[in-house]
Amino acid sequence: MYRIAVIPGDGIGKEVMEQGVRILKIIGEKYDVDFQMEDGYVGGGAYDELGTCLPESAVKLCEESDAILFGASGGPKWDVLPSDERPEKALAILRKKLELFVNLRPVKIRKSLIGALPVKAEIVGDGTELVMIRELTGGIYYGQPKEGNAERAVDSMVYTAGEVERISRFAFELAQKRSRRLTSVDKENMMESSKLWRAVVIEVSKDYPDVELNHMLVDNCAFQIVAAPRQFDVMVAGNMFGDILSDELGALAGSLGMCPSASLGYGKSGLYEPIHGTAPDIAGQGIANPIGMILSVAMMLEYSFDMKEQAKIIEKAVDAVLDKGYRTADIFEEGKKTVSTGEMGDLIAGEMESLY
Ligand code: IPM
Ligand code: MN
Repeated sequence: MYRIAVIPGDGIGKEVMEQGVRILKIIGEKYDVDFQMEDGYVGGGAYDELGTCLPESAVKLCEESDAILFGASGGPKWDVLPSDERPEKALAILRKKLELFVNLRPVKIRKSLIGALPVKAEIVGDGTELVMIRELTGGIYYGQPKEGNAERAVDSMVYTAGEVERISRFAFELAQKRSRRLTSVDKENMMESSKLWRAVVIEVSKDYPDVELNHMLVDNCAFQIVAAPRQFDVMVAGNMFGDILSDELGALAGSLGMCPSASLGYGKSGLYEPIHGTAPDIAGQGIANPIGMILSVAMMLEYSFDMKEQAKIIEKAVDAVLDKGYRTADIFEEGKKTVSTGEMGDLIAGEMESLY
């Protein structure tokens, strides 16, 4: 039996979560695994009902669960709240409380979507897969001092050697299991925190002599991602650089709506969420792409429950549906068939039937 905290959150979070949960239930039934799902409330919706974006009950539920499925949190309605009370902050605090310092963001360039990409096919290459490892509980989003008034504001990019060491070890170990190539991203020519970052990564690299390590400045990296993405396999970056570059990488996947993520730490409960956010412009219309969420469920099966085979089934089903030409609005291309969020879920569930 596995306990799973289900936190749909705000905006399209709710719509895509319905599809994620449904796929998880199908896997549970087929493989006779008891997934006990319990709803938790985090974000603007929680604020409206309970007066806080991060209720104690949700934190407790997450701490007691084996894994957490998260939709998205935030929206224009709550942008007026003080920084510390905002829905986005709630997610940041939750990640910190659970010590989820690793954020894995895999990006797959699918042949089926190549025509819809903003980058030329010959540049991206079909089948290219890379993964961004973003440090998630340190850096400028958390560093002190952090304060501001109408005249002056400050955020502090702080990293300790220990924080850099643990994320880089994770990155080297993942690189060992893949192509043995690792790109570490920093801004070493301008920032003290990046000098420390690079020095620690170099020190850690001595324990992984079989991995080819390459350092790249973040501005150059932003350019290289669209100019020559095939050079990358595993990338590791600090919190803000990883946040920004992973959205850019989303363009190579066809849409942010295609991108899953896993947030991991030493603790037992990983958190799995699509990286697209709440998308207030399309929320409530039933047109959001549920694939990022569904692939996040696959990542949960793989990383939290060691159900690799079942994760593969979900991934194959997603590919099969795309190969047949079905598209949600965000990945639409002339000549393809547009489907709603629910229909995309139906199609993926249907394809899974032929894959068991
Ligand atoms: C993400 C988001 C979050 C972040 C926000 C909503 C707090 O942009 O998961 O990438 O900055 O980490
Ligand atoms: Mn982001």
